[in-house]
Amino acid sequence: MKLQSPLLVFALAFIGHLAEAALVKHTFHIGNLTVTRLCHTRAVIAVNKQTPGPAIEVNEGDTLIIEAINDTPYNMTLHWHGIFQRLSGWADGANMITQCPILPGNKYTYKFDVMGQEGTLWWHAHLSFLRETVHGALIIRPREGAEAYPFPRPYKEIPIILGEWWNDDVMTIDRQAFLTGGPTRNADAFTINGHPGNLYNCSSGDTYRLMVEAGKTYLVRIINAAVNNQLFFKIANHSFTVVAVDACYTNPYKTDLIVIAPGQTVDALMVADAPPAEYYMAALAYESANPPAPIFVNSTTRAIVEYISAMSTALPVMPDLPFFFDTPAAHHFFSNLTGLVRPGDPTVPLYVNKRLFVTIGLGFADCLPSQTLCNASQGQLSLAASMNNASFIFPSRLSLLEAYFRSVQGIYTTDFPDKPPIVFDFTNVSLNSDKALTPLTKTVKGTRLISLKYNTTVEIVLQNTAITGIESHPIHIHGHDFYILAQGFGNYDEAEAIKGFNLKNPLKRNTVAVPTGGWAVIRFTTTNPGIWFVHCHIDTHLRLGQATALVVENGPTAHDILPPPPPDFPKCEMKRETQRVELFSLSGKTTRKKNKIQNHTFPL
Ligand code: C2O
Repeated sequence: MKLQSPLLVFALAFIGHLAEAALVKHTFHIGNLTVTRLCHTRAVIAVNKQTPGPAIEVNEGDTLIIEAINDTPYNMTLHWHGIFQRLSGWADGANMITQCPILPGNKYTYKFDVMGQEGTLWWHAHLSFLRETVHGALIIRPREGAEAYPFPRPYKEIPIILGEWWNDDVMTIDRQAFLTGGPTRNADAFTINGHPGNLYNCSSGDTYRLMVEAGKTYLVRIINAAVNNQLFFKIANHSFTVVAVDACYTNPYKTDLIVIAPGQTVDALMVADAPPAEYYMAALAYESANPPAPIFVNSTTRAIVEYISAMSTALPVMPDLPFFFDTPAAHHFFSNLTGLVRPGDPTVPLYVNKRLFVTIGLGFADCLPSQTLCNASQGQLSLAASMNNASFIFPSRLSLLEAYFRSVQGIYTTDFPDKPPIVFDFTNVSLNSDKALTPLTKTVKGTRLISLKYNTTVEIVLQNTAITGIESHPIHIHGHDFYILAQGFGNYDEAEAIKGFNLKNPLKRNTVAVPTGGWAVIRFTTTNPGIWFVHCHIDTHLRLGQATALVVENGPTAHDILPPPPPDFPKCEMKRETQRVELFSLSGKTTRKKNKIQNHTFPL
């Protein structure tokens, strides 16, 4: 059983004897939408005039075909977050990584199979901050339908998309931050399914409401679509049983607190077993930087869970939320989840072919010439983020995947370092602004990738650093799920850590929130030729360069070779660069010459 979009579906073929694989088709018109929140009206970019956008629902084994029509003034791409994209990397939708953008007025049809994964994923624009409002759920049910869940079949399934809202245009905000070399200004509100809720000024009528029936079980599919914040999420007087994260089943895990980093999803069963009344569900930031933390969004979004049979007129009950800095609560949630291993499921690869030790953190870099408000002559540096001090720059002429496929030189290098340039007391917060360390930890800009043979088992230790401050970074890898073998605080100590590796039923996911001032060990095998972006899912860190990419070579058989791009694949035209710049000239008077420089450096 499947709720299908009106637009869709004809049976393609019978696969095996179980269920039919379908072609699921959608048309996404991406355009302007005028939205008012917190008494601020602005034009946002939205799909089919909705934000959050339409939910896509498929069964595992289906083929998805999404025609994306760009009616916005911006360049656009759509990314299907967490989808493996086996042999369909051309549809991964990471701007300048796997494709050049869909230009204003143009379209591109994303086509890919959804194979070997079940649960909640999502889709979003993958360019600057456009995903603020360009996102939606991507729900994958088993081939046999909801009957085949490895947990009791829920009465209803409810997507809960947590988001962020700015009162002003996000593209301008992001651009401004780039020019000054500073951080991006914080959002003005969090949202639940698009609504900030009644704790914000001028927002009392803008509250999402979920109606429930007493005694029934709901599958809540929670997605953190927020651009820059990890979140705590609770429903008053109700508890959850987590059954999946990032479209990977987990052993049932009981909790009344959900912790979710940008990019992640959590599927949880919730029984409506409280006295019939109204209850708030609420989310607020998990601020992982040490207090005194940088200024962060310290407000709370909330929505109402209303029992259909509720008679009382009492005010809804508010959940008891953790404090922003409750790292122990976050760690408890993240480190207590384990993967569900069913007979026949793949298990952790035990033999590792390639090891990397990757420091992740913030830092500084020289201002680029195009960062016109970042005053290098006065000794100013630009804020930067990096991995092993390599701070990623998006290519500007050709996407990485095309450069790889057509063997075009000069677009990227494959010299991403296997280890940090210097070893120091990585997580010692007193070194935050150690002047002696600064030159050594200054980042180097570049487009430096990791080249890997097909079928390589990779183990990566992700180590947070305290340069400019410790912070938990949600690291996402495109096209692959990975096992999280262990995680902890302080500097990674291999001999100690190995004793705690979970090789039996580790959690598998596509985005790991590396503990603040700590480390995580992940392991996966490269089974998908192409280019796969690796990056922090906090967009402000991504813009600052916290990224690299995997170059996975073709495998040995005809079934392991990346096919050529589809005929309508967006071209990388030089024209694009001029257009792109005009959209970002804040004064409207930027000269062509200046634009040219901006082009080559602004990661769009
Ligand atoms: Cu949610 Cu690079 O992705």
